[in-house]
Amino acid sequence: MEQARKRAEELLKIMTLEEKIGQTVQYGRYDDRRVELIAAGRVGSMLNVYGAERINELQKLAVEKTRLGIPLLIGDDVIHGYRTIFPIPLAEAASWNLEAMENNARIAAVEAASEGIRWTFAPMVDVTREARWGRIAEGAGEDVYLGSLAAVARVKGFQQANAEGYPTVAACVKHFAGYGWVEGGRDYDTTDMSERTLREHILPPFLAGIQAGAMSVMTAFNEVSGVPASSNVFLLRDILRNEWGFEGITVSDWESIEEVIYHGYAEDRRDAAMKGMRAGVDMDMHSGVYQEHLASIIEERPDMLKLLDEAVLRVLTIKYALGLFENPYTDVHQHEKLILAPEHLQQARLSASQSVVLLKNNPGILPLDFTKHRKIALIGPLADDHHHTMGCWSHKGREEDVQTVRDAFTAELAPHAEIFYEKGSEVKEELEGGLERAVALAEQCDIAIVAVGESEDMTGEHYNRTVINLPECQERVIREIKSRTNTPVVVVLMNGRPLAIEWVQENADAIVEAWHPGTMGGGGILDVLTGAYNPSGRLPVTFPRATGQVPIYYNRKSTGRPNLYEDYLDCDDNELYPFGFGLSYTTFAYSDLSLDRTSIQADGEIKVSARITNTGTRAGEETAQLYIRDMVGSTTRPVKELKGYRKLFLQPGESAEVDFTLTATELGMLDEKLEFTVEPGKFTVWVGPHSAEGLQADFLVV
Ligand code: BGC
Repeated sequence: MEQARKRAEELLKIMTLEEKIGQTVQYGRYDDRRVELIAAGRVGSMLNVYGAERINELQKLAVEKTRLGIPLLIGDDVIHGYRTIFPIPLAEAASWNLEAMENNARIAAVEAASEGIRWTFAPMVDVTREARWGRIAEGAGEDVYLGSLAAVARVKGFQQANAEGYPTVAACVKHFAGYGWVEGGRDYDTTDMSERTLREHILPPFLAGIQAGAMSVMTAFNEVSGVPASSNVFLLRDILRNEWGFEGITVSDWESIEEVIYHGYAEDRRDAAMKGMRAGVDMDMHSGVYQEHLASIIEERPDMLKLLDEAVLRVLTIKYALGLFENPYTDVHQHEKLILAPEHLQQARLSASQSVVLLKNNPGILPLDFTKHRKIALIGPLADDHHHTMGCWSHKGREEDVQTVRDAFTAELAPHAEIFYEKGSEVKEELEGGLERAVALAEQCDIAIVAVGESEDMTGEHYNRTVINLPECQERVIREIKSRTNTPVVVVLMNGRPLAIEWVQENADAIVEAWHPGTMGGGGILDVLTGAYNPSGRLPVTFPRATGQVPIYYNRKSTGRPNLYEDYLDCDDNELYPFGFGLSYTTFAYSDLSLDRTSIQADGEIKVSARITNTGTRAGEETAQLYIRDMVGSTTRPVKELKGYRKLFLQPGESAEVDFTLTATELGMLDEKLEFTVEPGKFTVWVGPHSAEGLQADFLVV
């Protein structure tokens, strides 16, 4: 980085104003006009350009036609895979498997870079409690601790060194900041929060990603407590640059610099450009306001040249750090070896299995037993859908690459069982005759596996919902099979957000939360259903009983009347499934919680250990979770906070000890002045299988 920066400084010295401005300009569509601008050195970056040949052509214009030959930085939304699509990020988070997250990001980067893409607009690290918000699918869920670890794993994966020793692609932590705190679950909507909430719940995953080396940050669409994020001096200068010392680039979200006009924060495009640059947004994604107005702004306010120089320096530094000056072109044959490589598909299948959360399993239902499950009915609109299986943000994924549940069952289970299929309904509406055919098929089979949930276009950007139930037409299929046949029903959920599925929880015989599982989803789900993979996923989000409970999350604050009244007249207070929840085909018992001392100094450390025993009959993986509560503080603390977890794989009857060390990092909090401190007093600690259960002990900080 040092070296890259020095070279960038040298280059900056010989640049004209127009050339400098060019480096802050990014376009997401290309046409003749934009091709001309590239050849004139007036564009620094492009997104939405695909194919090594095409990208090389554009690079050639930048490198060979312009005075300084500065290569383009080609970006893309490589969110959960490029051509090999992995489970959606929320699903990956459900694996609590950091190695998998890193590996998936690495593979996504390798495939994207093989076509000349060297910058991804990922990971999205927005913590959210909003299940109605479509983009919950793109993040790591509701928890800041898990979210921070996921941010680190993904940044490391994307930026892993390529064969020449450069980061494969530059990562971009987004959307800075508060995008997931939207009012009413409406995308782009207002967020208004205390600085405490910002610092406790929103910012840590950004900082973690940056400390792991993230080379860029994307500014958000929303306003934060009165100031749009894409012109927010407090966020972008005071916190990001001055407090955290971030030296990478900031890029706006799509036209978000211009959009501050609609927020009522800028008069016109010129004013918006000025405010974006003033706040420190280095690159303007697609709106063109920097291109049009920075020159005249700087003419009028020469003091702003310094800000432009800083921005350009950062952009050039990244280009050097990625090795683009050394090698701007991509070998056009490289992708043939790398796209959908067998290792990538194998990892996609494993990751799909690891992301599955088993929510319910009546005795004798799963895993499938081919001595009694001879005839298997696959039912539901998602059992054989090559598109929706990939989930949101998978635009480079192709339907023909996707293995659905039906594909996998048909290809792999033929010798063991007879496989039948009936769609039953569409995702959002009834299918003529589908219901009757589904019931008739279920009647004739030994078990019905019903794959239901959301289509790709019910989740992701601006796909928000006011009711997060299973669509009625799909639930009806399950209801009718349950009421008219004696065939056990396994519900496989494929979705991008928590769903309020109280009726399904009460009535299905088993529930397998598979999320949108990606290219190899069918095989990954098959492995879980047959027991080849013993499910190990844990929920990274709370599942409500009803949409009206949203936002519902585990790390809430206690009210002054915690048990006096019920929260709702028409719904149980508690969640349907708590954060951290997930079953296995085996069972685990927790015992022997012990602390190595009963009190510590504020700067001391305490060891917490517990014994976990596999009390069932199959080998399996448990995720032991540690939560704490600071019982009394100068500011109130959540009733529980996740501060650690351990995964352990145990054979039947085997037991092992898990150890955690708590230090000031875990025990500290922001006091009234927002200063980080460990306050004396009682702490409670839990070690258990999820956020609503665990062995409990207390200790004192003195
Ligand atoms: C999204 C970003 C994305 C960008 C570029 C925007 O609409 O909010 O997350 O990176 O488009 O595609």
